[in-house]
Amino acid sequence: MPKLVRFGISLEKELLAKFDKHISKKKYQNRSEAIRDLIREEIVKTEWLKDKEVAGTITLVYDHHKRELINKLTDIQHDFHELIISTQHIHLDHDNCLEIIAVKSKPKEAQKLADTLKSIKGVKHETLSMSSTGKEII
Ligand code: NI
Repeated sequence: MPKLVRFGISLEKELLAKFDKHISKKKYQNRSEAIRDLIREEIVKTEWLKDKEVAGTITLVYDHHKRELINKLTDIQHDFHELIISTQHIHLDHDNCLEIIAVKSKPKEAQKLADTLKSIKGVKHETLSMSSTGKEII
């Protein structure tokens, strides 16, 4: 169990009121947990700006009737096989597929893979969720 440290924060009353309203909406039990998450988010953002190893997911939505598109997406994933740790394919409905690609790599490589997949004609939507290997955050 990590050692806990207490410290005081001074801030404007109105700002604290807004923060309390915000954390209540987000279902936090207390301010400490909300502040911990804010700190973790900043650390993860920094990881993505530096050259450290990160983890994340790329989510794609595309029309599975476009066979050429599927071949291209597969070719690209083979080109980037070293950073892809897992993929999941979900048949959303008769026409649409959702694919989740989990990556662990340097930020630039993950971004390059996401950009390359997104640039393929027929990809309807893509997001890159920038997360962490968890090593730098507690
Ligand atoms: Ni499918």
